[in-house]
Amino acid sequence: MMLAVLPFDPSAGPTPRLGELPEPVAGPGEVLVRVRATALNRADLLQMRGLYPPPPGESEVPGLECAGEVAALGDGVADWRIGERVMALLAGGGHAERVAVPAGQLMRIPGRLTWEQAAALPEAALTSWTNLRVEGGLEAGQSVLITAAASGVGTFAVQLARELGARVLVAGRDPERLERLRPLGAEHCLPLDDELTRRAREAAGGDGVDLVLDLAGGNWLPAALAALRPRGRLVLVGILAGARAEIDLADVLRRRLQLVGSVLRARSRAEKAELVAGFMSFAGPRLAAGALRPVIDRVMPFSRIAEAYATMARGGLFGKLVLRLDG
Ligand SMILES: NC(=O)c1ccc[n+]([C@@H]2O[C@H](COP(=O)([O-])OP(=O)(O)OC[C@H]3O[C@@H](n4cnc5c(N)ncnc54)[C@H](OP(=O)(O)O)[C@@H]3O)[C@@H](O)[C@H]2O)c1
Repeated sequence: MMLAVLPFDPSAGPTPRLGELPEPVAGPGEVLVRVRATALNRADLLQMRGLYPPPPGESEVPGLECAGEVAALGDGVADWRIGERVMALLAGGGHAERVAVPAGQLMRIPGRLTWEQAAALPEAALTSWTNLRVEGGLEAGQSVLITAAASGVGTFAVQLARELGARVLVAGRDPERLERLRPLGAEHCLPLDDELTRRAREAAGGDGVDLVLDLAGGNWLPAALAALRPRGRLVLVGILAGARAEIDLADVLRRRLQLVGSVLRARSRAEKAELVAGFMSFAGPRLAAGALRPVIDRVMPFSRIAEAYATMARGGLFGKLVLRLDG
């Protein structure tokens, strides 16, 4: 048996509870990981309230990422060795002492990163890579506006965009936390207010930004769309500010704008494996060298899981909330 956050139970309320569950078994093509650290994501808060169930066939235990050691290999797995230090992108199951991971979603921990640092990476890093590079097509010399940029995803996306050679504009509600993004690569810090479009266009120079990575959505989406240059692209990744917006379709049409929606968790294992390989080939050496690094607001013990979820829900963090497993 193992300690884990128990799956969502409507009768138990929205607070995460630790309990004993049977250890998962590595199926064909999977690797069993002994979890040393894991991290929280917005999606976990929704799952805890029964609003974001895992994709069919995936673990009902929450937790989208972890770091630890390879503990067992399923049939057909040849590329991994017992005891290797790994981090993993998960569709679920990370808030537990053991998790079975599709082999394609494992990454060797680069350089000397600690368990806590490695656990802070997979979800923020792969969301950033998928949406800046793959969906967003971001190229060196282009400009990108990232909204809600002090988030776990945003703090990595800023660095990744910088490493891709882009000029980075960030927007958010708290000016103090936005300023902390400057050393990570943000050239312009913009308040999320009615002046967002004008300020972003001015800061980008020319006729607007090439790409928006929108983690906020809601009422901010129209302003972010308007900040795009003609034929620019907005990749919508989060809807923290709401799931509805009124947009000027004539502007979208006239300026040939692109609006792309993107989720990571629901993608197939094959697609995730491809994203993980692409990300590691670009970012692995940069993570090992310290050019890219996870931004961690705090580390808490796994035993204080309820307090950790409540802290995440309250907001005001800069970067990731990581959970360390004891013993
Ligand atoms: N599509 C995908 O595949 C995918 C994958 C991962 C994450 N996401 C999404 O990406 C977003 C960031 O996730 P995370 O786990 O990194 O979040 P996080 O670390 O909890 O950060 C949340 C951020 O959102 C900001 N925020 C909260 N409510 C807001 C509002 N009403 N208007 C504007 N900003 C608001 C907060 O800003 P303040 O500092 O102002 O409080 C904070 O910086 C979430 O929407 C999440 O669902 C999507």
